[in-house]
Amino acid sequence: MFNYSDKHILITGGAKGIGREIARQFLVAGGQVSLVDRDEAALQQTVLDLAQGDQQIKGFVADISDQQEVEDTIRQVEQQAPIDVVINNAGICPIKSFMEIDADTWQQTLDVNLSGTFYVCQAVARYMIPRKRGVILNMSSKNGLDAELGHAHYNASKAGVILLTKTIAIELAHLGIRANAICPGYIRTPLNYEVDSPEFVQQFAERYVPIERVGKVQEIAPIFLFLASEGATYINGQTFVLDGGQLAGQKPWPTLLKAMYPSAPK
Ligand SMILES: NC(=O)c1ccc[n+]([C@@H]2O[C@H](COP(=O)([O-])OP(=O)(O)OC[C@H]3O[C@@H](n4cnc5c(N)ncnc54)[C@H](O)[C@@H]3O)[C@@H](O)[C@H]2O)c1
Repeated sequence: MFNYSDKHILITGGAKGIGREIARQFLVAGGQVSLVDRDEAALQQTVLDLAQGDQQIKGFVADISDQQEVEDTIRQVEQQAPIDVVINNAGICPIKSFMEIDADTWQQTLDVNLSGTFYVCQAVARYMIPRKRGVILNMSSKNGLDAELGHAHYNASKAGVILLTKTIAIELAHLGIRANAICPGYIRTPLNYEVDSPEFVQQFAERYVPIERVGKVQEIAPIFLFLASEGATYINGQTFVLDGGQLAGQKPWPTLLKAMYPSAPK
């Protein structure tokens, strides 16, 4: 469906979860993919797994919360080929109640999710501007638009990503660069495997998500391929929510739903 055979796509946090699936789908579409991740072992494994056939994929170890490391890494990535699309996907989500959040957790979350995204956007834009073309796609979250308990630091960081993206969109559009933000709901990935049991996930989906299940990485990646494509050249500064309808409105009370749809198939 998409053809990225002449494009170089940089994905941060591409060693696992959603970023890994985005990388896989861009590779299937013929793209040259560079992954940046701080988890060296996972990065090596992902590159090995995805580099089948003549797929062009390379991994770069870096911590996006370190501006100097970002500058050095982007220089190396650019040396492979000019970056056409940058996907700022790396993020962390330590869960703590508002009253338990210590200064380190607050700072670390902001450093990775918001400052890291800023560092990468600025470093890549420096190369995109003289070429007068480029696409920036920033991973926010449903939590960037709507508060979730236990996530004050994460919610704040992801809300920041949305406004950062909108500002880039209005400042760099005249230089041929588009920027958009993507806001997934609950997606099953290594980010939450360790903390949420399958029973918890099932109950969460039944309680909050109109589609009544959580999302899969395969359902998030395609929007990145679309937003970076020729079909999306007039889409700029927007925020896309992929959450099974969670933010559309309160999930109806099951008793009321049953009353209104008494003969609905099970
Ligand atoms: N999974 C969800 O439910 C969900 C929902 C909404 C938004 N998101 C966002 O999507 C993105 C990916 O989430 P995921 O669930 O795939 O997470 P994940 O933990 O499975 O993968 C995140 C990747 O980012 C890397 N990373 C983390 N900090 C980094 C840093 N400082 N420098 C470089 N790499 C770093 C990790 O090593 C990992 O490979 C995150 O930004 C997350 O906030 C996830």
